[in-house]
Amino acid sequence: MIKKLIQKEIKRQNKVINLIPSENYVSKNVLAALGSPLTNKYAEGQPNKRYYFGNGVVDEIESKTKELVYRAFKITSEDYGVNVQSYSGSIANLAVYLASVNIGDKILAMSLEHGGHLTHGHHVSWTGKFFKFEHYGVGIDGHLNYEDIAKVAKEFKPALIVCGATAYPRQIDFKKFRNIADSVGAMLMADISHIAGLVVGGAHPSPFPYADIVTTTTQKTLRGPRGAIIISKKEISESIDKAVFPGLQGGPQIHTIAAMGVALEEAIKPSFKKYAKQVVNNAKKLSEELKGLGFKVISGGTDNHLLLVDVTPLGLTGSEAGSKLEKAGIIVNKNMIPFDTRKPWDPSGIRLGTPAVLTEKKLQEGF
Ligand SMILES: Cc1ncc(COP(=O)(O)O)c(C=O)c1O
Repeated sequence: MIKKLIQKEIKRQNKVINLIPSENYVSKNVLAALGSPLTNKYAEGQPNKRYYFGNGVVDEIESKTKELVYRAFKITSEDYGVNVQSYSGSIANLAVYLASVNIGDKILAMSLEHGGHLTHGHHVSWTGKFFKFEHYGVGIDGHLNYEDIAKVAKEFKPALIVCGATAYPRQIDFKKFRNIADSVGAMLMADISHIAGLVVGGAHPSPFPYADIVTTTTQKTLRGPRGAIIISKKEISESIDKAVFPGLQGGPQIHTIAAMGVALEEAIKPSFKKYAKQVVNNAKKLSEELKGLGFKVISGGTDNHLLLVDVTPLGLTGSEAGSKLEKAGIIVNKNMIPFDTRKPWDPSGIRLGTPAVLTEKKLQEGF
């Protein structure tokens, strides 16, 4: 029964134009690693320090995947520690907060309403309950205003500043965030979940060496399995490892870690650079075309893989636009726009992205 439903979903995925910016299609090799018997193995602990026996090969897989993280992000193991065990981006973010500040401490991050993620301290997320969050947003032009963020930071005096977003179409200036963090003696975390593939492919500036901690999911522009990577300055990497396991998780999913390794092997190839650049070019083109048709594109365009469109001038809500598009075979997600007067369940906007459609084309070409 489930097998039949999987076949049905494969058909659906093959039929639609997927413009959800947080989704992508993994290669056959990533899929093979995910579906491999590595799923049978328990491996609590770190490479060469496990609670279970029989982990010789697993140790090699996890160590190799970590090595690939260093290569992909052009950093060294002298400066940074890497953790590839988080089951998801949400767990990775919570692990970082628990390891880097005390419960109840102040954290400054981007608000969900302006493009941040739930795990950036939204009140419905446990992150927002465990820590005292203050939020910054974008200006009326839809761009981050670094002077305003610096002012909020000076008043709030956070222990940690989070930059990075889930619905922000512009480049993030990590150096400016570093300066703001330094001006108030805070640590800086960059959540690059959305743009990791662009960073690795050279189509977005890197958060290194500016951020003390970088988190990323691996399933989005990086074109890997569902999971997350945490990269942190050496001084805190051991605490982060402990926050992931045993703090929040049990055994790591070795099949996922292997699939991450395969995705990273693909992402360090020269062809991935072309992919990342083309994803951005396609998003820019889509934005220009939509503007030409009279659509209101938030911030006036995009520098990355996604764009936010206000659909209310068409007499539609985000939900209505999304379901009409689905009927036409185009899949998007509804999204709040900055200063939205509507509610998250039926907001004013839709979010569009170009990573998955380009991968689909590449898969057909057998990348
Ligand atoms: C910026 C950002 N951080 C964290 C996450 C959480 O990732 P996950 O869905 O793997 O928990 C997401 C997912 O959308 C995200 O966009």
